[in-house]
This record gives sequence, C-alpha cells and structure tokens, in this order.
Amino acid sequence: MEFKEVIGRRRSIRYFLPYRPVEREKIQTIMEATRLSSCAVNASFLRAIVVERDKLAPEDLEALKVPTTTLQLDMAPVHIYFYGNLNAIQESHGQTLKELFDVGALNPTHGWSHKFIEETVWAQILDPISKDPTINPIAVSMDSGVAMNQALLTAFDEGLGALLTAFNAEKAKAIFKVPDHFMPLYAMLIGYPAESWEAGGQRPRPALESLYFEGEYGVPMQRDPAVVEQLKQDKMIQEPAPLPWRKDEVRALSRMFGLPE
Ligand SMILES: Cc1cc2nc3c(=O)[nH]c(=O)nc-3n(C[C@H](O)[C@H](O)[C@H](O)COP(=O)(O)O)c2cc1C
Repeated sequence: MEFKEVIGRRRSIRYFLPYRPVEREKIQTIMEATRLSSCAVNASFLRAIVVERDKLAPEDLEALKVPTTTLQLDMAPVHIYFYGNLNAIQESHGQTLKELFDVGALNPTHGWSHKFIEETVWAQILDPISKDPTINPIAVSMDSGVAMNQALLTAFDEGLGALLTAFNAEKAKAIFKVPDHFMPLYAMLIGYPAESWEAGGQRPRPALESLYFEGEYGVPMQRDPAVVEQLKQDKMIQEPAPLPWRKDEVRALSRMFGLPE
C-alpha cells in the first residue's frame, strides 16, 4: 500500500475477529518497523511486551481492563504493551551518539566530535535531563510516541486493524513482571477487523487552519484546495465519518457478537 493511503486508511479499530489469529511474521514486521523509528540520542526508549490474548489467564485479561478499554481487549488476539525505559538515556551514556558519529550520521560539519558529545551534549544536556524527574519522563514519552506511531501505521500496512488504548498498569506490572524503570504507556491491540476497514469513515478533526500557523501564532496556515483534491485521489483524505451505513454496521456487529445495542 502507498504510504499516503496507509495514513488515510488508519482508524482506531475496536471490533476485531476474535477467532482469527495474526500471523507471527506480521507481528515481527510491526516490531521491526518500531525498532527503526527515529529516537532522540539514538537511545531506543520504547520497550514492548507482546502478548497473545489466549495465553492470558481469563482473570488477568479481565484485570487489564480500564473504563476506556473493555471489550476491545477480549476481541483482539494480540496485545502489545508499550513501556518507556526511564533509564534509556543513562544506559546510553552518550555512547549511542558516539556510534552515530562513528558511522558518519553526525559529523564535524555540524560541530560534532567525541569531545563535544562528552563535554557538551552528555555533561550539559543529556545527563541533567536524565536525572530530572519531571523532564526525563517527558523525553521518554515523546520518543516512545514516535516509535508507537510507526508500529500503528505498520499494522495497517500489513492489512490488520489496530488501536492504541489504555490499560491497568498496576495489574500489568505484576502479570508481565515489568521492571520498575519501565514507565507504562499504552497497549496496541492488533487483529483482523470485524468491522469494515472504513470503520464508519475518517474520524473528525479540527480544521487544519485552526491547528497550525505560519510564521507566528494566530496566522492560520493556508490550505490549498488543489492539494486537498490530490490527497483525496491519493486516498490520504477519505470520506469523513459517519458513513451513512455506520449505524447499521454497528447494529450488525452487536448482533453478531451478542453485544448490547
Ligand atoms: C495515546 C492514545 C491513547 C488512546 N487511548 C484510547 C483508549 O483508552 N480507548 C479507546 O477506545 N481509544 C483510545 N485511543 C484512540 C482514540 O480515541 C482515537 O484516536 C480517536 O478515536 C480518533 O480516531 P482515529 O484513531 O480512528 O482516527 C487512544 C489513542 C491514542 C493515540
């Protein structure tokens, strides 16, 4: 699938075929894509625990639910529990930057050297950030979010449906034996969608002009209708929700799975 179409087809999928397993190679592909995401300090902050739903004890599956994550946890055959490694910067100790220097990604043209990494970047920026209890988790979350989105998009490119969703972090810590320095983020649920891939249409978003500015705050970014038209042809911008048959689809799904209407 073309990249723009992957972006366009992604929806938060909340109805999965509970009985259809996801091929192991697709899960690996998702995690390989995640590993390649850009990360600050090249420190690979994101950690993940890949879980097959059917290997979870029924009481553990129940315990992982929270008010915004209910039925979807039962329906998705694969769950990926994402964590941010709070020790990532300290573990890298600037070595990952030196590696980038050694492979020619960071160069003297831009002021880089091993000395600059040790004396300026590590000593003055990274070491203090990693020891700041407020800023370190923000850095870890930021970085992990970038990698999680790469996982999310790859799931759709593999023809699957996916959803990022909250989970009961306290229960998950005990069930999955998660170490203390792993900060809980979100779970990505994966499976073959039981709903149509359109899932009711592209979900509402504020107007582009209200979100992004040009030059300074308050000057809305100009939106060229010709570009919008092209993006529609490229299937990045799609029919907005609700498609006229969405209510019927949800009713049919409710009946198929014996759920409240
Ligand atoms: C970090 C994150 C956390 C989310 N948590 C939940 C959640 O707990 N439960 C849920 O049903 N959806 C969750 N979502 C999905 C959003 O509600 C979703 O983005 C929204 O419905 C917009 O629709 P779309 O993703 O289909 O474009 C989450 C999404 C993100 C990115």
